[in-house]
Amino acid sequence: MTFDGFDPSATEAWQALQHSAKTLADANIAGLFASEPGRADRLSLDCAGISLDYSKNLLDQQTLDQLLALADCSPLAEHRSAMFSGEAINITEDRPVLHTALRSSADVLKRRGVGELAGPIEEQLTKMASLSGSIRDGSWTGATGKEITDIVNIGIGGSDLGPRMAYGALKAYSASDIQCHFIANVDGEPIQSLLKTLDPETCLFVICSKTFTTQETLMNAHTAAKWLGSALGLKKPFSSPHFMGITSSPEAANQLGIPDSRLLAFWDWVGGRYSLWSTIGFSVCASIGMANFRELLGGAATMDQHFIDAPFAENMPVILALLGIWYSNFLGDESYAVIPYCERLKELPLYLQQLDMESNGKSVSLNGQSINYATGPILWGTTGTNGQHSFFQLLHQGSHRIPVDFIGVIKDDLSTPDHHRALIGNMLAQSSALMTGRQDDALPAHRQYAGNRPSNTLLLDELTPYTFGALVALYEHKVFVQGSLWGINSFDQWGVELGKSMANTLLAEDADIDVLDESTRKLMLKTGLSGAS
Ligand code: F6P
Repeated sequence: MTFDGFDPSATEAWQALQHSAKTLADANIAGLFASEPGRADRLSLDCAGISLDYSKNLLDQQTLDQLLALADCSPLAEHRSAMFSGEAINITEDRPVLHTALRSSADVLKRRGVGELAGPIEEQLTKMASLSGSIRDGSWTGATGKEITDIVNIGIGGSDLGPRMAYGALKAYSASDIQCHFIANVDGEPIQSLLKTLDPETCLFVICSKTFTTQETLMNAHTAAKWLGSALGLKKPFSSPHFMGITSSPEAANQLGIPDSRLLAFWDWVGGRYSLWSTIGFSVCASIGMANFRELLGGAATMDQHFIDAPFAENMPVILALLGIWYSNFLGDESYAVIPYCERLKELPLYLQQLDMESNGKSVSLNGQSINYATGPILWGTTGTNGQHSFFQLLHQGSHRIPVDFIGVIKDDLSTPDHHRALIGNMLAQSSALMTGRQDDALPAHRQYAGNRPSNTLLLDELTPYTFGALVALYEHKVFVQGSLWGINSFDQWGVELGKSMANTLLAEDADIDVLDESTRKLMLKTGLSGAS
């Protein structure tokens, strides 16, 4: 690998962009439309049933060319090939990054040089189809012979957010007689409340954990097992047909008592936050069926191929990534918002928080140097129109500029024409108002809108498994491109380890609170975590 020493800030393109940032600081997006006929057509792209309009950004053709030059002089193309062909680009864990393989056909995998993965991937997909199929057709029965009606996905982070989001997004495709529930937090309230609503004879707990060591997941799993054991009089609840496991550590699941027949596997080359496409998607698959799950994979695969084939100037993930870099590194914007105008996509911002912030929240380069430019931005958001009635005030008149990704769905048969018209009308009004603002000398200052606030608009033809898969893959690749251009490893997450080990220290029976800082010591006593005086 030759991309481990890349410092984007040392390139000519970077210097040129710094210069453009000074010139464009006074530019006006609406003014750019006036001076560039056909801008909206020129600055738009289509792929896999998704269109991107990026014309409402504070950039001109020269800046765009400089951003593309930055991508050209970076190791992005080489890095991308290295990812798809299974090189160990996750260097701090010495692992390949191959979640894209999970959605590729055997032929494609062979072409990319990782043909040997096709067999194991297909084997797990077939097992997933069979297990989920037996829930759907009623042949999977519980300890008392009753059909499964409720699936409880117990997992956290990537073992929760992906399936949770996809289940919500693809509601229209869900089997009506199977309800999925998601338990993540170690807070006991959610699981206690859920258990009160479940019939122990008809529920299935799916323990999702790549490592099978995660505190929250194991604690929730044990709570569920205890409840089930006492409700049904089972001595070994984990070994009953009310539990299954999905993991890359099958031995750990076996040790808990889950037999191989109820285990689905995935591999250490699938990062937790990229695991929706693996057997971690089981609950979604049971809900929407295998054919639809394959459509989800198919949409992502189309985006993968676009990412590989399209020239950078026409490459949707590359363009989105470059826009983000423009705002973070040259215009000084620290955060961006993702606002889906579709209530079924309400989990998308949460999912993207892990994807983006766990991947690119780094400040050490691939060759171990501290870096002196901004990397991963702060991502936040909620659905429109709800957000309009909470934080949009700040988007329009606050002192921070927050670039926005608006996401809408053109055709929505689950809504009604009047509701849908209102929804999309609001989205378009917001992006237009953010850009144009309103300056009227007759009005007082507090009623002026400076405008010039940038946004992208992504439109899905329809919210289907296919377009949804493509949308998620689009953001995955955007994050990849940014990490690549920043010269960081987007695939580890060492930053979460310290807090985990500190929690273990604090929770130990014999925790020595004297070694703690004064504030934490006091709070340990106040919360009753320590009885020492
Ligand atoms: O602590 C962060 C993390 O490792 C995430 O990257 C991961 O998605 C989550 O925890 C859950 O991990 P696991 O699937 O191993 O339980």
